Amino acid sequence: MQRAPLILLGIGGVGSALIRQIVQNRAHHATDYDLELPILALCDRDGAVVTLRDAIDDATLYEVVDFKARKGRLADHSQGGPQHDLAAVIDIAGQPDTIVVDCTASEATAPVLLAALARKHRVVLANKKPLTMQQEVYDRLTRAGDTETRHAPRRFHRTRWETTCGAGLPVIATLNRLLASGDPVTRIAGAFSGTLGFVMSGLQAGQPFSAVVREAHRLGYTEPDPRDDLGGVDVARKALILARGLGWRLALEDVAITGLYPAEMAARSVAEFMDALPSLDAQFRAQVEAAAASGKVLRYVAAIADGRCTVGPAAVEANSPLGHLRGADNLVEFHTGWYQPTPLVIQGRGAGADATAAGVLSDILELALK
Ligand SMILES: NC(=O)c1ccc[n+]([C@@H]2O[C@H](COP(=O)([O-])OP(=O)(O)OC[C@H]3O[C@@H](n4cnc5c(N)ncnc54)[C@H](OP(=O)(O)O)[C@@H]3O)[C@@H](O)[C@H]2O)c1
Repeated sequence: MQRAPLILLGIGGVGSALIRQIVQNRAHHATDYDLELPILALCDRDGAVVTLRDAIDDATLYEVVDFKARKGRLADHSQGGPQHDLAAVIDIAGQPDTIVVDCTASEATAPVLLAALARKHRVVLANKKPLTMQQEVYDRLTRAGDTETRHAPRRFHRTRWETTCGAGLPVIATLNRLLASGDPVTRIAGAFSGTLGFVMSGLQAGQPFSAVVREAHRLGYTEPDPRDDLGGVDVARKALILARGLGWRLALEDVAITGLYPAEMAARSVAEFMDALPSLDAQFRAQVEAAAASGKVLRYVAAIADGRCTVGPAAVEANSPLGHLRGADNLVEFHTGWYQPTPLVIQGRGAGADATAAGVLSDILELALK
């Protein structure tokens, strides 16, 4: 049986769901793919559980998932210990052709992933941050293994990052298929935030901006500080990953971001920010009404076209895929040479630990079976 050993960085919602799915699919992977996915190390921000044998056993894996759900630190785990150097963990635990899986939300893993690739390992990212740092980091992460095909920048030999845009939805894979066929991609437009989709749907239904943001906050749809969602930076990272996927050489600073609150509200405490939300109600009501007057609807859109990335509220045709979107779904329109006037559309749940972990697992299988 073929073996693809794994080292997991980040055992939060996605990392834990991934561990459960790997264990639950062992028989399926063995029978249908002749593939075994042993886990060699699990790491959180300052600890790790590592084996120097064949694999961490499944009982321990489940126990670590429970331990992390109870907010435990792997540094304190009975089979774990402190770690301050993820690259050293990979050096100690790594076996030939290991796949290092980044389910953290930190830029700090970028040098670790590059070190893993330098040791001929492979990498899967759910974490957008390393791919939205300097262009050089993106190039080195995505083009690793190209030494023998130096001029073939789209032959992604050893890295996958499908879940960084639209979680489990096959957005990057679709983009790569379009590019491989030579179909010119003229415009990508998408709604990439379930939280902002919820807010825009509420506005469209006539709710005041303040009420819909408070509701999203109360339901846990936003980050503890809702400005982390409303600012649009997470959507901008996804737009940048798609633009870079097109071959454009852009930085995060090149993405024109319009957030859903003004700069002067950035310095306030969360409570003060929530109290001040009604001051934005009239302006959003006016935007919704202005869009409706021209047969349009307001959406939070990432647009990648003509060499530019823009992220922000935009009036879109009511009778377009984005215009039909309701609620927290993600949706991506690919406008291409063949897909016009009707774009190629991908829509569905664009978040959630299980859907994301399933996308990560598919990436792992794609690399393992390559
Ligand atoms: N959840 C989704 O729906 C979704 C969808 C698509 C993509 N993603 C991406 O998937 C990633 C994981 O999301 P999540 O919801 O699982 O996040 P999470 O619950 O916050 O878990 C993050 C994990 O990363 C660990 N971590 C943070 N910094 C680290 C570092 N420097 N070194 C090692 N470990 C570190 C944390 O360690 P501690 O446990 O010690 O804090 C934690 O275990 C994020 O990048 C997110 O953007 C998530």
